[in-house]
Amino acid sequence: MRLAFGLGAVWLASLTIAATVIPSQNNDTDYKIGPTPLDTPWTDTVGTNPWPEYPRPRLQRSNWKNLNGVWRYRNGTEGDIKSPPFGQRLEKPVLVPFCLESALSGVTGKRHIYSWYQTSFDIPLDWLVTDRVLLNFGAVDYEATVFVNGHNATFHRGGYFEFSVDVTPYLNASGSNELIVHVFDPTDQDRTQIPVGKQTLNRGGMIWYTPCSGIWQTVWLESAPVEHVTKLDLVAEMDGKGTLIVTIYEPDTPDVKATATGISGAPFVFTVKNPELWHPDTPRLYNITVKLGSDTIQSYTGFRTVSRGVINGIQRPLLNNKFIFPFGPLDQGFWPDGIYTPPSVEAMVFDLKVLKRVGINTVRKHIKVEPALFYKACDELGLLVIQDMPSLRPDLPDPGNQCYIIRLEGPEQQKEFDRQLAMLVEQLKSYTSIFAWTIYNEEWGQDTKGLPEFRLTDLVKSLDPTRLVNAVSGWADHGAGDFDDNHHYSTPQCGTPFWSATSGLAAYDSGRIALQGEFGGVGQYAPGHTWYPDLSKQTSYELTNDTIAWNYRTHKLLSELREQTELYACSGGVWTQTTDVEGEVNGLMTYDRRVIRMDEAQWKADVFALYETAAKRAAHASQNVGMGDQSLEGLQIGML
Ligand SMILES: *[C@@H]1O[C@H](CO)[C@@H](O)[C@H](O)[C@H]1NC(C)=O
Ligand SMILES: *[C@@H]1O[C@H](CO)[C@@H](O)[C@H](O)[C@H]1NC(C)=O
Ligand SMILES: *[C@@H]1O[C@H](CO)[C@@H](O)[C@H](O)[C@H]1NC(C)=O
Ligand SMILES: *[C@@H]1O[C@H](CO)[C@@H](O)[C@H](O)[C@H]1NC(C)=O
Ligand SMILES: *[C@@H]1O[C@H](CO)[C@@H](O)[C@H](O)[C@H]1NC(C)=O
Ligand SMILES: *[C@@H]1O[C@H](CO)[C@@H](O)[C@H](O)[C@H]1NC(C)=O
Repeated sequence: MRLAFGLGAVWLASLTIAATVIPSQNNDTDYKIGPTPLDTPWTDTVGTNPWPEYPRPRLQRSNWKNLNGVWRYRNGTEGDIKSPPFGQRLEKPVLVPFCLESALSGVTGKRHIYSWYQTSFDIPLDWLVTDRVLLNFGAVDYEATVFVNGHNATFHRGGYFEFSVDVTPYLNASGSNELIVHVFDPTDQDRTQIPVGKQTLNRGGMIWYTPCSGIWQTVWLESAPVEHVTKLDLVAEMDGKGTLIVTIYEPDTPDVKATATGISGAPFVFTVKNPELWHPDTPRLYNITVKLGSDTIQSYTGFRTVSRGVINGIQRPLLNNKFIFPFGPLDQGFWPDGIYTPPSVEAMVFDLKVLKRVGINTVRKHIKVEPALFYKACDELGLLVIQDMPSLRPDLPDPGNQCYIIRLEGPEQQKEFDRQLAMLVEQLKSYTSIFAWTIYNEEWGQDTKGLPEFRLTDLVKSLDPTRLVNAVSGWADHGAGDFDDNHHYSTPQCGTPFWSATSGLAAYDSGRIALQGEFGGVGQYAPGHTWYPDLSKQTSYELTNDTIAWNYRTHKLLSELREQTELYACSGGVWTQTTDVEGEVNGLMTYDRRVIRMDEAQWKADVFALYETAAKRAAHASQNVGMGDQSLEGLQIGML
């Protein structure tokens, strides 16, 4: 377990005291939820104070202020970033942090390429004027320029990643501060090649969905001492000295399990004796307190080791050195009312709890990155996360093999993809539940001549040597990474000596772990519960009108996966998918989360049968552990 901290060495700037107090421009009287073909049980509970929870569980500070709520919005135009609308009241209300396209934002509409956001904030009176004020964004899709009181405070590119800026020099310590955010989000306009996952401006086909533009995760302020613990990716150019005190508490008690003291600037190893291990069945977490001078941070972690090894002659994924059979759904994280933004934490966690109820131990977070509280929920509930990098949009149908291949226009797109892949790993690697990283999904944005997946597997392993890497999930596999991952609908072909002749693939590669990275996709018409009332727009790989038939088919397909686990080398499976999304009606639940299709008793029996079969394959095993070792690392704290 490795936690890294850095010491922010920023000199105190003097604060400007505002001569006049500008009244708050927040005005929620004209906000209302926009039109949507479908809502959820949470739509009407959101109100105008959404996502009030503390947004960064890995690094919590007590002095913080949530800026979510009704802001002002204006549709922008190309080039207007040169003349920001300082001191003006923008025309429309927008509920932050919901995607502009979503009903919950109150804006809706299409083609949010250039956008302006505006709000104002006060600094809480009890924050020390000698401390710094950090402005944090959970995610803004795709490029954000942040202006505070007319100053260009920062620019950030990448729609899935958190960023933070020290705005202390721009503040009026007493009185109102104007915050303006300019957003540019081309999505896939004019074949732009940026990480977008399933978003597209031009909907078409079953698997492409409404895009998300603008601020889509919590915006908040925090106060931190001049010398403060920061995220690893923000400390590269900073250094400093201080005393670091780490405390780990016994679960659910104030009893201290262990403490360690170190001097910042030198890495040191911190060992916890006999920790209870984290596992999906026993998701034990330990609270941590970090003190650095006057900066106090709350965090937590779980102790566990992810590795790969040979058991009875077969490559297997290991958790705490035992074969674990990861099984769970492709989890898209789309919502009819919030698009990319779940209506609330409760709604987001509802999905995960339904999965846990039937014994599922994994989610494949599909070409999207969720708010930090999603990963915290997986840590707490006990769900392994296979985290995909958001892919580039593949919009060129290749007539030869009917694959969608995007040809990169130049090395810049590849470079930016690489940069954002590193951001993904840096942002999420501290979450206990992360099990594997997926670099490419089905050849989307993958240069199938240059084979960047070999180089990128090395990159990911260098940033995080403690997880497995799924270099290519489905399709264009050339042997990189820890998995041989097949996608096949509806039936699985997991670690089998047979394969689909049309797929161009061969039998599974016994040098890597066999994973069924996608299968299932059994659909059911859902009148009254779909994005498209028109049945002709509700589709999947196979369809039925009947819930009993849906459960019959899912039982058959899960049984096939179980048989392939018993007979062949199958080591895990990903079922398409948690919920319906727009026209794709193959969820374990409908898109509105109002109908659960699963016969839960049957599903639970089928899921546990998978685990039992896998356990039998590992019984009396001669293990040859290929990565990691038998001993726990304990907690390592490194100071940059
Ligand atoms: C708030 O919005 C309403 C409706 O648009 C408007 O009539 C009112 O003047 C606004 N109030 C402020 C303080 O801007
Ligand atoms: C914003 O303005 C542009 C150009 O003026 C227009 O093409 C686009 O449809 C507008 N978008 C919205 C959401 O109003
Ligand atoms: C704002 O500042 C960033 C550097 O932080 C710069 O890249 C960007 O061009 C600036 N934008 C404007 C509109 O001045
Ligand atoms: C902040 O202070 C500066 C300098 O006194 C002033 O020009 C500006 O108008 C103030 N802005 C706000 C939003 O109070
Ligand atoms: C960790 O601390 C939080 C309060 O900060 C508490 O709610 C939670 O129960 C603690 N967790 C454990 C595992 O002790
Ligand atoms: C499915 O049921 C709907 C009514 O709910 C009906 O209109 C439709 O024809 C049925 N489709 C099939 C393929 O049976």
